Amino acid sequence: MKLQTQNLLTLDELTKHELLQLIELGIKLKRYSKDGKNFYELKNKTMAMIFQKPSTRTRVSFELSMLQLGGHAINLSHRDLQLSLGESIEDTAKTLSIYVDVIMARVYEHKQIELLANNSSVPVINGLSNTFHPCQILADFMTIKEHKDDLNNIKIAWIGDCTNVCNSLIYGCSKLGINMSISSPQGYEPNPDVIHESRKHISIEIDDNPSHMIDKADVVMTDTFVSIHDIKNQDKRIQKFLPKFRINSSLMKKANKNAIFLHCLPAKRGYEVTDSVINGTQSVVWHEVENRLHMQKALLLSLFDI
Ligand code: CP
Repeated sequence: MKLQTQNLLTLDELTKHELLQLIELGIKLKRYSKDGKNFYELKNKTMAMIFQKPSTRTRVSFELSMLQLGGHAINLSHRDLQLSLGESIEDTAKTLSIYVDVIMARVYEHKQIELLANNSSVPVINGLSNTFHPCQILADFMTIKEHKDDLNNIKIAWIGDCTNVCNSLIYGCSKLGINMSISSPQGYEPNPDVIHESRKHISIEIDDNPSHMIDKADVVMTDTFVSIHDIKNQDKRIQKFLPKFRINSSLMKKANKNAIFLHCLPAKRGYEVTDSVINGTQSVVWHEVENRLHMQKALLLSLFDI
């Protein structure tokens, strides 16, 4: 399957069919990988990876995806690029497009990834911006599908800070017809445009009472209270969230008995989630980590029509 979109910046670019196909392809590639089957469809293809912020999972899973598919990834820390000395993002995009076949970038302002995409002749993948994290949500839907099978009759609860991951999740849920409930302190809700658009397709309840929002959820998700771009306000933020929005065993018990717990990582244990939940039997966080690798491969193959 070749995706209709050239770029993946938010997740809103994908159709329902494409999203479901990507999930299936990720699951298939995981099975092939376990069976020791190798594919080198990206032989002679090169990806440039720009990182304005640190990364463990995104960096390693994208680099390994290219390697395992026969291609090559070039890691470009922001400070190694002329970008750090003032070269424009537009000129950077045009330059990289001449050399490589795909660009993946982790940036602060979402506008930066849009500028990169608008000036690139090759596909651009958002490896996280302050506003969206589509690659994480692709892997998370793959994980949810593996554990819940039927995506048609589930409810997802998001508790805590409505981060970039939450915004992409809402777009994904709106494509797949999955209803959501969200609990965050007032002033920390998801992006209003994302909510407005998505409410045309699904029900999204928002309330600052986590016990109400987690009620009867099949999937419970959270993220750190202090994203990389929020570090300067971390004390104020933590006061807003704790202890009410920490997911502990007693809050988790209010979800459905077979509910699963997801966290994109890195986690700040004891803050947004307790050890008992993230290490508990309902937690699927290590599946999410593994699925980042398989889903990056599915995405790359689908952008290249392979
Ligand atoms: N979840 C995620 O994107 O992890 P990294 O920040 O380590 O890439």
